[in-house]
Amino acid sequence: MLKIVFLIIVTNLITLYIFTTPHSNLDHPLSRISQLPFFDIKPLLLKLNATQDQLQQSHSRIENLQTQLNSAHHLLESLIDHLNDNRPGVASYAGLLDDLPDEARLAAGPHMLPLGNTPRIGSEIYASVGGGCLNHKQDLAKYMSYDVGWVCPSDDVFAQILMLKGCEPLPRRKCHPPQPKNYAEPRPLPGSMWATPHDTSIVWDPEKSRWQYDNGGLDFGMEQVLATKAPGSVRIGLDIGGGSGTFAARMRERNVTIVTTSMNFDGPFNSFIASRGLIPMHVSISQRFPFFENTLDIVHSMHVLSNWIPDPMLEFVLYDIYRVLRPGGLFWLDRFFCFGSQLNETYVPMFDRVGFRRLRWNTGMKLDRGIQKNEWYFSALLEKPILT
Ligand SMILES: *[C@@H]1O[C@H](CO)[C@@H](O)[C@H](O)[C@H]1NC(C)=O
Ligand SMILES: *[C@@H]1O[C@H](CO)[C@@H](O)[C@H](O)[C@H]1NC(C)=O
Ligand SMILES: *[C@@H]1O[C@H](CO)[C@@H](O)[C@H](O)[C@H]1NC(C)=O
Repeated sequence: MLKIVFLIIVTNLITLYIFTTPHSNLDHPLSRISQLPFFDIKPLLLKLNATQDQLQQSHSRIENLQTQLNSAHHLLESLIDHLNDNRPGVASYAGLLDDLPDEARLAAGPHMLPLGNTPRIGSEIYASVGGGCLNHKQDLAKYMSYDVGWVCPSDDVFAQILMLKGCEPLPRRKCHPPQPKNYAEPRPLPGSMWATPHDTSIVWDPEKSRWQYDNGGLDFGMEQVLATKAPGSVRIGLDIGGGSGTFAARMRERNVTIVTTSMNFDGPFNSFIASRGLIPMHVSISQRFPFFENTLDIVHSMHVLSNWIPDPMLEFVLYDIYRVLRPGGLFWLDRFFCFGSQLNETYVPMFDRVGFRRLRWNTGMKLDRGIQKNEWYFSALLEKPILT
């Protein structure tokens, strides 16, 4: 507004001047104006001065605003930096290492990599430690307190509980596990698969007949399951929560190699499986299966996958089974326990959602108290479809 008023005044003055003194030169119009005889120029100059002052004030106000904007910008930038630092996986991983024994920090990393040699990884590397460890730092500190190079504490039960709380995988340690007393070297195969273990506390005789016959209901026979595929095309697989490894032993007799995951609940199951000449893997149900996608011919699980697993977690497990199975691979779900109300409402839709094809599906009430409590089992033979 002020500028416009100013311009109008000036142009009017110049016009007036040009018209009144046609022969003068135009080098200094304002000084000329002041010489005009019939024109009092003083108020105009005052106004001009005032306008100039106001302009200067506006200018400094704008400069002030710009400074404020700049500092706001800096504030925002540092705020974003701060937020980034608190991203899970960055600051929380660093936080995991705070207040822990040096061994924990050494085990988890980060460790710098030789420059230029590891373009696929980057400049530093961390060792995997389960996310649940974050919530159990005291236990983790206890687990990582040991004498480097000596015998580890006898803490396998404690360590397994830590795993079950979600601190899985546990960090590695630089100590030797205590050796079993009076250790005897394993018996040779195939006798080892059925030899009575030295520690006879494990009752496994009833397992001997398991999977040998098909009862047409919940209990499928191995021959019947293998017969759904071309002979010899089921070669490698996984038994989730396979206890003492009897499933793997029976499959081995049929030339199928099975890795058995097992926890050591109420017994040294991993050692027992190994003593049979079979492969034990000490991982719980929480951990992503350490197999690449589309690789296994068969996955089996009995009694482990059941309604005790929270639904969202179970669905991840099922998708992970689907992932590791090769197209056309079999998922033999053996005796999944649940309540009648959950069967059709929760589990049937969930299994369908994951995308398996049903080859066989049997439901049956739990024999002892199923009727009173509406307790059910279902067994299923599912196939990962071959997409065309
Ligand atoms: C206008 O301002 C200038 C310098 O700021 C000053 O020298 C001059 O006297 C002022 N003119 C009037 C009419 O106040
Ligand atoms: C397993 O393989 C061996 C040797 O290759 C063979 O002699 C035996 O018949 C096979 N067993 C079964 C059940 O296929
Ligand atoms: C589930 O649904 C099937 C078929 O829709 C039905 O036959 C069966 O009785 C149901 N089971 C339970 C436990 O409700």
